[in-house]
Amino acid sequence: MDGKGGGAGAPALRRIVFGALLAAGLLAAACGSGSGVRDAPTPTPTTPSVNVVIGAFVFDTHGCAACHGNRAQGSVAPRLGKIDRKGLERIVRTGPGMMPTYSEETLPDDQLEQIYLFLQVVGEDR
Ligand code: HEC
Repeated sequence: MDGKGGGAGAPALRRIVFGALLAAGLLAAACGSGSGVRDAPTPTPTTPSVNVVIGAFVFDTHGCAACHGNRAQGSVAPRLGKIDRKGLERIVRTGPGMMPTYSEETLPDDQLEQIYLFLQVVGEDR
């Protein structure tokens, strides 16, 4: 007699919703605070949140992700830290050890900058 209401929630749907929430969470994390601070200083076009997304793309496109992991978490190459801009440039341009060398033609400075900003977010604290 009692129609069990609502018990039939499709697990597949819940998984999709959970996945979407997770993705949104990751995006929010990548974009910094996410809280709507309206009186914050006007973001410039080079605001880190935008570059982090581009940085992740550049990191992947240039093969960094293949060796260091797509979040720089380490793979066949070491996990990367929040390296400073000069240090990053020196390593990328000189390629120590097994690390390939990237010339300015292969990896222009603006893309290096985007990788730098990406690493400030995903890089391990040291
Ligand atoms: C073929 C694999 C490979 C690729 C591709 C690669 N790396 Fe590396 N990378 C390494 C290895 C191996 C090391 C460790 C070098 C050593 O000191 O022996 C390293 C070291 C580094 C370091 C220094 C880490 C530390 O803790 O000192 C940074 C920063 C770095 N890589 C950034 C990058 C970036 C940015 C890219 C893409 C533009 C990239 N790597 C592409 C293999 C790679």
